[in-house]
Amino acid sequence: MALRHFIDLDLLTPDEIRHILDRALKIKAQFKRKRHKAKKLCEGRVLATIFEKPSTRTRVSFDVGMRDLGGSCITLSSNDLQLGRGESIADTARVMSRYVDVMMLRTSAHQNLLDLAAFADVPVINGLTDRSHPCQILADIMTFMEKRGSIKDKKVAWIGDCNNVALSLVHAAHKLEFELFIACPSEFGPNQDMSEAIAVNPDQVRVITDLSQAFEGAHLVMTDTWVSMGDEDADKRMEVFSAYQVTSELMALAQDDALFMHCLPAYRGREVSAEVLDGPQSVVFDEAENRLHVQKAIIAWTLGAI
Ligand code: CP
Ligand code: NVA
Repeated sequence: MALRHFIDLDLLTPDEIRHILDRALKIKAQFKRKRHKAKKLCEGRVLATIFEKPSTRTRVSFDVGMRDLGGSCITLSSNDLQLGRGESIADTARVMSRYVDVMMLRTSAHQNLLDLAAFADVPVINGLTDRSHPCQILADIMTFMEKRGSIKDKKVAWIGDCNNVALSLVHAAHKLEFELFIACPSEFGPNQDMSEAIAVNPDQVRVITDLSQAFEGAHLVMTDTWVSMGDEDADKRMEVFSAYQVTSELMALAQDDALFMHCLPAYRGREVSAEVLDGPQSVVFDEAENRLHVQKAIIAWTLGAI
């Protein structure tokens, strides 16, 4: 059987995505009922996570999630590995495959993830690259489903940078059939990856500069930092994005029960006002918690355990 890598949402079928989400909800419910007796779907299995960039949520939720599944996790920084001294990704993949059952990589270059997957004999999971962040978007969709039901045909507004999280959101919009409005300054519009992703179904994803049009009637409003890890033009970004803050005034244009999401870490007073981030429509900490539950389903899916 071909290895089940978890690289990007556009590489999965809608049924596979729905299956992972459905199992994540079940795993969470079972875990909430009996934390220490929840079913051990990955008993004795070992996950290695490799980080080229900082992380709080991804690092801790993968580690705790694998333990909850009955397995164990080794958390590595690329600088602690020979990888940081020039050993090739291909050799790292071949060696690590002899030790562990599944790997997760957070990397600055998406190609590194593709290379790891190409040379590994075990499944590889995308824990964020410069291109995409599919674990995050599945946690976000799971959070929406818990609070509002199916996301199909709902209006989602993405405000700000067309970054890695936004690309995974575009993939999800196509697979799960929701309407996506991306409001961004023209200087920081979609890059080539995102333009190609949007072109798959251009009617479903609209890229605009007008904030009101994005907020009006939205069921879900999302944003992210203006400066992602690795971005080297912070000053320019601060200036250009300053008109793109999510505020209470703009949230008032959305549905009365619209949710606000942010993958975190958040910068209050920049991409979102403190009033919105800490306000009643914000579900950012539920999103962060759901990283734990959805990633258990992702790990179990890659290992053929669900
Ligand atoms: N949202 C997210 O991936 O957070 P970390 O960078 O802390 O892992
Ligand atoms: N877009 C952000 C997400 C952090 C979780 C970054 O890549 O830094």
